[in-house]
Amino acid sequence: MRRGNFKYLLCACVMVCIYYFFGVSDYIHSKSFDDNFDYPLNINIKSIVDDVLSGKKVTVTPINYYPYRFLTNSGKCSTTHKLDLFIVVKSAMDHFGHRDAIRQTYGQENVPGRTVKTLFFLGIDGKQKSSLQKQIDKEMADFKDIIQMDFIDNYYNNTIKTMMSFRWVYEHCPTADYYLFTDDDMYISVHNLLVYIHDREATRKPEPAGFTTNYKSITDTAETDSDFLYTGYVFNSAPQRFRSSKWRVSLVEYQWDRWPAYVTAGAYVLSNKTLKVMYIASLFVKHFRFDDIYLGIVAKKVGIVPKHCPDFYFYKKKFSPDGYKDVIASHGYEDHAELIRVWCEMNSL
Ligand SMILES: *[C@@H]1O[C@H](CO)[C@@H](O)[C@H](O)[C@H]1NC(C)=O
Ligand SMILES: *[C@@H]1O[C@H](CO)[C@@H](O)[C@H](O)[C@H]1NC(C)=O
Repeated sequence: MRRGNFKYLLCACVMVCIYYFFGVSDYIHSKSFDDNFDYPLNINIKSIVDDVLSGKKVTVTPINYYPYRFLTNSGKCSTTHKLDLFIVVKSAMDHFGHRDAIRQTYGQENVPGRTVKTLFFLGIDGKQKSSLQKQIDKEMADFKDIIQMDFIDNYYNNTIKTMMSFRWVYEHCPTADYYLFTDDDMYISVHNLLVYIHDREATRKPEPAGFTTNYKSITDTAETDSDFLYTGYVFNSAPQRFRSSKWRVSLVEYQWDRWPAYVTAGAYVLSNKTLKVMYIASLFVKHFRFDDIYLGIVAKKVGIVPKHCPDFYFYKKKFSPDGYKDVIASHGYEDHAELIRVWCEMNSL
């Protein structure tokens, strides 16, 4: 072969590799999020949610009901006790140390003047009476603060875990004012979160006098209604198309060039109305395997806008008493002793 031809061939090969490897064609063929985001189901989900919440019959069949069961229950949400805050901790089965550290710190539940409750949510390992399961059975008997669900707990089932915990809360604990969803490797300041909530309540517009209907339609109001809160660290980003990326998403899975705005997983807070509306809406929104992005999609479908709060850190914020003064959540506390130390130091200030 002549040398020149060889060069062209090599060059073409390199181009093809780059095209393939970087997912260039996926970038070229993705649809514009701003112009035509129409994630399924393509129906008016707001009006379905309105119908469900106002007790009307809904004719559309849900497409996204996870058929798993709760293997345990908890009486922590008895309706006679109004909760100010309910904390959902998404935990892995073998994270015994994480759960112990949380029980000693932000999961303590003894907040003066406020009613705060905490429960851990776990899946199963799918093995008959494994020693891990036996340990968990004992832990459940000792603490009665674990809701176990019968799907196999692994990273790819994350959205199932999140939405099953939404369902549990929707069915068994719908009357808390606010909900914190957190992973078991986060530092949380319940005190700072309650201050944030208190400040927010203080600036909310009161209901107009004589307001009598119990139910306000979400159809035109979700964007502006102060009953909705969906907050934490907000991301505005685009899907990764690189073949080598662990986070690669194909066009078949998601066709658009951007994600909707979403609160990154780890820690986020919802008001009770947001929780209800998002849970009901999720039954009509196609499953997606990244749970935080999924919630962003659901929120977008019903017109709830995530609110960025700079006091949530999706990375590990370096500790100093002054730097942590206003922190509500920080990622990166796998070390139990460190969580306890930092939490105690901040709560003794
Ligand atoms: C998710 O859970 C289901 C139900 O337990 C299980 O069949 C499935 O294998 C799990 N998914 C993965 C990716 O393991
Ligand atoms: C939802 O929370 C608000 C406070 O933000 C509270 O006034 C209301 O009673 C709660 N609703 C329910 C159904 O618990």
